[in-house]
Amino acid sequence: MDKFVIQGGRKLQGEVRISGSKNAALPLLASSLLCGGWNTYHNIPDLVDIKTIKRLLGNLGAEIEGGETLRVNTDDIKRCEAPYHLVRTMRASVLVLGPLVARMGRARVSLPGGCAIGARPVNLHLKALQDLGAEIDLRDGYIEARASRLRGATIYFDISTVTGTENIMMAATLARGTTVLENAAKEPEVVNLAETLNGMGAKVSGAGTDVIVIEGVDTLHPVETTVIPDRIEAGTYMIASAITGGDVTIRGCRLGHLDALVTKLKEAGISIEPVEDGARVTGGVEIRSVDVKTLPYPGFPTDLQAQVMALMAIGKGVSVITETIFENRFMHVGELMRMGAVVKIEGSRAIVRGVKKLKGAPVMATDLRASASLVLAGLAAEGRTDLLRVYHIDRGYHAIEKKLAALGADISRVKD
Ligand code: EPU
Repeated sequence: MDKFVIQGGRKLQGEVRISGSKNAALPLLASSLLCGGWNTYHNIPDLVDIKTIKRLLGNLGAEIEGGETLRVNTDDIKRCEAPYHLVRTMRASVLVLGPLVARMGRARVSLPGGCAIGARPVNLHLKALQDLGAEIDLRDGYIEARASRLRGATIYFDISTVTGTENIMMAATLARGTTVLENAAKEPEVVNLAETLNGMGAKVSGAGTDVIVIEGVDTLHPVETTVIPDRIEAGTYMIASAITGGDVTIRGCRLGHLDALVTKLKEAGISIEPVEDGARVTGGVEIRSVDVKTLPYPGFPTDLQAQVMALMAIGKGVSVITETIFENRFMHVGELMRMGAVVKIEGSRAIVRGVKKLKGAPVMATDLRASASLVLAGLAAEGRTDLLRVYHIDRGYHAIEKKLAALGADISRVKD
């Protein structure tokens, strides 16, 4: 297993280019199951989670070629199953459920279990598929879904769910009649998927608002589409610049997708100037503590909560960070405290009292975003930080140690 060794204290400087969004690429690739022929996807990030979905699609019978531009042909679907060993490594594998039932009339997908950030059930995906007329059985740890043809329905999501909205939006494209998704997720990744589906001949409107209308069509055709930039990767580098007192220009990102973070960083005293194709983020001032509450988009993303906590750990004052999306997303707190952070957890709130300096320590990554937070803390800390289990970070950040080293960080990957 690899680890990162970080010598903290270097100010980051220069330019970094953001990769395609993991959480947009995954549903786009799953949507290839909705029609035969070669689909073309540009700006696919080179990540472990992308390898996992490629394996999953390959297992179903897809032909796949390319890299950053990836071509996928699902003319010949040999089986309709997402096995346990793949769903266990990546919960987003459940995104093949909707497309498979819609096109093939059946799917067998391992039921994802709980994970490091919460219980994360898929009950809303299943209830919505039932509303579209699918028969669902849970057997031997698998979801078994069947429908000769789905039919449109009005579906209300009790909770705004990103992959739930995506799964059902994909399924509804081939249903008979009109589907209305109420309290749909509004994340940019959902919009990227809706635009891609429309490029395939689907009739989806309202994506980006909380009501999405899908008029079902009989067939779809292949598409050429581009994955949006990864707003969470971009946000992580913005915080990296802020936490090291750096001056980093982030290229290839859409600042408009990061309004909540930009507002919070500005409140904290960080300067953020829009530049062509991105933003210049300059720290070097005293960081003021600010309160942060995670919410569905356009609220503050839960996927940046751990990273902003690393910044608040060296803020002046007290910051209250409230996590409202996942019930167990404070796994990074214990590790940040090993580096000298002063944090108290009270239910869904973390109260962070800023300290002058964090101190390097051996720490362990527990999930993707927690690992990013510990890398950021390591960059700002005095002395050496060893971050173990970096395989978590490889799921969602392409070559983070190389991108940071190019900005002047002292970070290396070593075999543990
Ligand atoms: N929920 C249910 N029932 C459901 C579905 C969701 O109770 O059927 C609950 C969840 O347990 C959670 C809340 O609803 O409390 C919202 O979860 P959501 O379904 O929106 O999360 P997700 O679709 O499983 C995606 C991202 C996550 C990101 C969340 C929230 C992908 C592949 N994953 O997950 O990304 O944290 O939305 O924005 O898009 C990450 O990249 O590190 C990551 C975890």
